[in-house]
Amino acid sequence: MTHTIIIGGGSGMGLALARTLLAQGGDVTIAGRSEDRLATAAKELERHGHGKVGTVTADMGREEDVAELFDRVGTVEHVAVTAADATGVYGPTTDVDTATARAVLDTKLLGAWLIAKHGAGRITGSITYTSGINAYRPNGSNTIMAAANGALASLAYGLALELAPVRVNVVSPGWVDTPIWDQLGMDKQAAFADLAKRLPARRVGTPDDIAQAFVSLMGNGFITGTVLHVDGGHRVT
Ligand SMILES: NC(=O)c1ccc[n+]([C@@H]2O[C@H](COP(=O)([O-])OP(=O)(O)OC[C@H]3O[C@@H](n4cnc5c(N)ncnc54)[C@H](OP(=O)(O)O)[C@@H]3O)[C@@H](O)[C@H]2O)c1
Repeated sequence: MTHTIIIGGGSGMGLALARTLLAQGGDVTIAGRSEDRLATAAKELERHGHGKVGTVTADMGREEDVAELFDRVGTVEHVAVTAADATGVYGPTTDVDTATARAVLDTKLLGAWLIAKHGAGRITGSITYTSGINAYRPNGSNTIMAAANGALASLAYGLALELAPVRVNVVSPGWVDTPIWDQLGMDKQAAFADLAKRLPARRVGTPDDIAQAFVSLMGNGFITGTVLHVDGGHRVT
């Protein structure tokens, strides 16, 4: 049975990926900082899936948590990383606290590196990270998150060589309706409606759109060192 760790699997895209993998008969371990969120997600997943569901409380920005996660889980085929916390990052650079910026880098970039560092030798199939459209279409806000997202491509290119034959890729979503938007303090439905009119796909993304992209990258043994853009055509608008 294929086993996948999903860091960030308690909500949004990670939770959709967990549902998809379980429906295909795989086992999943979902990780995140909130034990309650993981427990609620696991309860839902156990109702619908066929495989086993495990939970591990871990902050991927903390090295001891990442090391313990791999100690507990041991050998695993795939790791998918969807974790990010956007609290306080929306707005012009002059308004963003330096501590918030450091926390973004600690989670999205250094955390991604820590997963490779402690997962090496235990991950047998692939690592897939999540970046985002703002790395490729900056919007004058959220710039530190955009920088972290952009750097994930370089991290994946380097790790694809270092960890081979383990494959390392990145999914870069466009705007997707998930709980992360609730941290931004904006009218998300109005923003989504406005963007949908301009996107070639004529809609914003769903968590399942992104889950399917993860499944493609994880399952295709010839894809490594790649960024897969799943953004409804946002980059070409
Ligand atoms: N939604 C979009 O429009 C969009 C667009 C482009 C890119 N993205 C990227 O897509 C990814 C998935 O986001 P989402 O939209 O699915 O958001 P989400 O529903 O908020 O999911 C993020 C998950 O990450 C976990 N998390 C946050 N910080 C963590 C940490 N330090 N360690 C471990 N887990 C952590 C959260 O749980 P806890 O709080 O319990 O830890 C949460 O379950 C993110 O990397 C985001 O930057 C999203």
